[in-house]
Amino acid sequence: MCRDPSCALDMKKLLETRTNAAIELRRRLGLPSSHTNAYRLVNSEGDRLSGLIVDVFGDLAVIASSAAWVENYKPEVEACINRIDGINHINWRPSVDILKEEGKDMSGMKEVHPSTCPERTKVMENGISYAISLVGQKTGFYADQRENRQFISTISNGQKVLDICCYSGGFALNAAHGGAIDVTGVDTSMPALQLARENIVLNNLDPGRISFLREDASQFMKGALSRNESWDIVILDPPKLAPRKKVLQNASGMYRNMNSMALRLTKRGGLLMTCSCSGAMTQSGMFLRVLQGAASMAGRKISVLREAGAASDHPIDPSYPEGAYLSNILLRVL
Ligand SMILES: C[S@@+](CC[C@H](N)C(=O)[O-])C[C@H]1O[C@@H](n2cnc3c(N)ncnc32)[C@H](O)[C@@H]1O
Repeated sequence: MCRDPSCALDMKKLLETRTNAAIELRRRLGLPSSHTNAYRLVNSEGDRLSGLIVDVFGDLAVIASSAAWVENYKPEVEACINRIDGINHINWRPSVDILKEEGKDMSGMKEVHPSTCPERTKVMENGISYAISLVGQKTGFYADQRENRQFISTISNGQKVLDICCYSGGFALNAAHGGAIDVTGVDTSMPALQLARENIVLNNLDPGRISFLREDASQFMKGALSRNESWDIVILDPPKLAPRKKVLQNASGMYRNMNSMALRLTKRGGLLMTCSCSGAMTQSGMFLRVLQGAASMAGRKISVLREAGAASDHPIDPSYPEGAYLSNILLRVL
């Protein structure tokens, strides 16, 4: 049997065409700009490149692969990203567990050419500077919350703000930048808190007005409740509590309990921005019901002011609704 060469898959061409479309889309969204150089350039199915994520941090691109084809065409993918203007370094991050599930043998996974990519870099998002560690969580930075973080900066003037599960301080820094008088961030990860503290200095913020604490979110909230503390604005952005549909029931209980405490810590008339990055929760459509349950548990009344997801550089293909994972809901708390 002879193969028809006209039907052969030209991977180089396909990658080029789809990354060019992705670059063009980000340009239309104003990315990068003089105040933001951290953004998602390729969002898997949303950019018709299933299993390929590319986050750009200044002159550095982090490539997260979660499909065997991406690993198999690694040189072509790297060449395609390397030719983009302004990209000088590539950091390759395979999702080893997912790739193994796909049947990809990851045992000999050694770098052929050792990476010359730095382990740290600095970026700007909405005019705020961030130190990024490339060995940090996700691709090193949660670019998905950019628009939600900016929203927080617009409502923080004169407010006392609590950022629970703060990572490198994104929401807290935006609150301080927006004029908050007192900002506290809480996280369990020491490397994340080191970045957050560095970010205070990078942005010349007053360390008397913004601080980051290492504590478990629930323990911190219990302690703060027992001290009768309260905040004008609370942000709650926990890790993925429902990584699979199977554990959704259990995770719903965790979301309810955490949100109930966060609601009690919010002053009456104050605001709670609460998030779930569990695709299973977002797609189930149950998050608002969980929040209602949390409100009745806390003895509070809530109204929904704003419902958002990931920033617009994280496009979703409607035929792949599993791409929608982030829920970000702003509540008024009475
Ligand atoms: C989704 S990320 C938060 C992203 C952050 N809001 C931002 O804008 O960059 C979740 C964070 O929760 C933290 N975390 C995980 N378990 C925690 C716990 N039990 N208590 C407090 N923080 C926790 C992780 O270290 C991580 O920084």
